[in-house]
Amino acid sequence: MIIAIDGPAASGKGTIARQIAAVYGLHHLDTGLLYRAVAKAVLDAGYLPSDVARATAAAAALDPKEFDDNTLKLPAITEAASVVAAVPQVREALMNYQRQFAMRPPGAVLDGRDIGTVIAPGADVKLFVIATPEVRAARRAIELRSRGEAADEREVLADLLRRDERDARRSAAPLKAAPDAHLLDTTHLGIDAAFRAAVDIIEAVRTGRKRS
Ligand code: DC
Repeated sequence: MIIAIDGPAASGKGTIARQIAAVYGLHHLDTGLLYRAVAKAVLDAGYLPSDVARATAAAAALDPKEFDDNTLKLPAITEAASVVAAVPQVREALMNYQRQFAMRPPGAVLDGRDIGTVIAPGADVKLFVIATPEVRAARRAIELRSRGEAADEREVLADLLRRDERDARRSAAPLKAAPDAHLLDTTHLGIDAAFRAAVDIIEAVRTGRKRS
C-alpha cells in the first residue's frame, strides 16, 4: 500500500505520516528532508540556493542515509529548501529515489507537496492536509521554541506565508491537492484526533466505504 500525504508546512502532515506508517507497518519518507539536504549541501559549500547548477549537482550527489534531521530543520535551511525545491532539475534528480522508496515492500507513506500529483499519482490513498496559516504558525513557533530557538509568531507566520506562496506558485510540481485526494483540515484537531481522522479516511478508501 502506498499512502501519499501532501500539504503546506506545519499542517500536521509529518506527524500524521509517521503515525500512519507505524500503525500500518509501512516505510516512511519525509520528502521535505531531501530538499532540505540539498539546500544544506549548497549553503555548506558557500553557494546561493538559487544557483541552479550547484543545487542540481547537490541533488544528484545526495545520500539520504547520511541525513541529520536536527540540522536540516534550522530556519536558514528551511528558507533555502523552498528555493532549491522550485528548481525543476533538482526535483527531477530526486524523483527516482522517492519513487523507488514508495515501491519498497510492503509499501510506504510519503509526505511532501507533490506526492499525490507527481511522485506517486497511483497511490492507494491520498491525503491533503491543511490548517489555517495562524494555527500552523502557532504550531511552528512551539516547535521552534522546543528546540531552543526564539520564535516571534508574527515573523513565523510571515515566513510560512512566503514559503506557501513560493511552493504553490512555482511551475515545477507546485503544492496542490491531487483531484482524488481527501482533504483533512486539522485546524481544530489535536494530534490524536488528526491521526484518527486520517485512519478513518484510509479505512474508508480501503473498504470502499463512503465517508460521512
Ligand atoms: O516539508 P518541509 O517544510 O520540510 O519542506 C521543505 C521545503 O521543500 C518546502 O519549501 C517545500 C519543499 N518540498 C517540496 O517542494 N516537495 C516535497 N515533496 C517536499 C518538500
